[in-house]
Amino acid sequence: MTPATKSSAAGAALWPLPFWIAHRGAGRLAPENTLAAFRRGAELGHIAFECDVKRSADGELFLLHDDTLLRTTDGGDRVAGHLDWNELSRLDAGSWHSPIYAGEPLPRLDAIARACRARGWGLNLEIKPTPGDEAETGAAVARAVRRLWQGCAALPLLSSFRPEALAAAQAVAPELPRALLLHTLWDGWSDIADRLAVVAVVTHHPLMDAALVQRLHAAGRRAVCYTVNDAAEAQRLQAAGVDGLITDEVERFSPAVQR
Ligand code: G3P
Ligand code: MG
Repeated sequence: MTPATKSSAAGAALWPLPFWIAHRGAGRLAPENTLAAFRRGAELGHIAFECDVKRSADGELFLLHDDTLLRTTDGGDRVAGHLDWNELSRLDAGSWHSPIYAGEPLPRLDAIARACRARGWGLNLEIKPTPGDEAETGAAVARAVRRLWQGCAALPLLSSFRPEALAAAQAVAPELPRALLLHTLWDGWSDIADRLAVVAVVTHHPLMDAALVQRLHAAGRRAVCYTVNDAAEAQRLQAAGVDGLITDEVERFSPAVQR
């Protein structure tokens, strides 16, 4: 069964991702969640990327994993989502990784959209809200994606650990494909997945097995795992029938390995 013909819980949206998805861009070889990381992954043959998106205090959408700026920028331990874009845009998000990336900026979502559309890259946008900003971030991401990918057949997959963020995205742009991220199989996740009409469930990799893959497929959903960096684990999950794996090991795991 090809990706395009498998049934979709969210309606007409096509499944937008190949089997291998580079985590945070190629977020170990280059500073995570920057355009440099996407480019590095593309140089290695990757055609799809996962990244984390949040909202600034004045409503701009930009890529960052952590709540604070401390680990991956020179902005100190301030909460990123409490600053305006004018301040965030001047930060160095590359030097922490290595000197050749000094001055690499935090990318705004519109820059990521331009690169993805120009290069034909697939995208898994993880909605990673600042605590307390879940619904606003989910709604803002959905509005922006609808506008930025207008006319594209392959839309980004919007994923989140936070059902409130996905619900807000669903309310604003129900046509966009959504995925529920699961760090544990918490009580009620399946009912929430139904309510959110997700096209995929993306689990922490040890949670996935053939029975869960079959259960997801029977519900018309894809089964995807994060973050798989071990060859034996990748083989186990492929044998279980998963549809995609998110990896940091962008050199070892070739995007040419497609199912
Ligand atoms: O989207 C999958 C994965 O990125 C979730 O975990 O913490 O790396 O964003 P994290
Ligand atoms: Mg992520």
